[in-house]
Amino acid sequence: MSISFTVNGKPQTVDVSPQMPLLWVLRDTLALTGTKFGCGMALCGACTVHINGEAARSCVTQVSSVAGKKITTIEGLSANNNHPVQQAWIEVDVPQCGYCQSGQIMQAAALLAKKPNPNDADIDEAMAGNICRCGTYQRIREAIHRAAGQHTAALPSSVTASLASAGR
Ligand code: FES
Ligand code: FES
Repeated sequence: MSISFTVNGKPQTVDVSPQMPLLWVLRDTLALTGTKFGCGMALCGACTVHINGEAARSCVTQVSSVAGKKITTIEGLSANNNHPVQQAWIEVDVPQCGYCQSGQIMQAAALLAKKPNPNDADIDEAMAGNICRCGTYQRIREAIHRAAGQHTAALPSSVTASLASAGR
């Protein structure tokens, strides 16, 4: 079955089984191997991508369900690894083995897109489903706070003033 969607801003048409997980299509058909397989059961977050801007588990997403939608993977999050989350990840030196980290970054980027200045509880809630066997959770939290600061600093002063007055 022929299915069309956009990946990292590029239109793609694939001829695969409609039940095939999006993760397989990304990795095996489109050779985008930054998105990882962990559990295959929506339990670990290693396979997290954005579908129309929302964080989603690509291991349990049938490719037929993304027809016409916009997918972003770690390869397309920014042009030069300069997304605030990626920059903060580098500055805080978050990864250990690295296996879970593209999923962590995609989940964190989706969080900050919705909530530009999350508190610790917001972060813990949003990131709870992303497992790191190396236990980098403290650095992940620190990096998200750092990315939030960069994000806020990049906003016009009128916006930062209204965020401050709203207590965020
Ligand atoms: S591989 Fe998708 S959540 Fe674990
Ligand atoms: S850095 Fe190793 S699993 Fe997260």
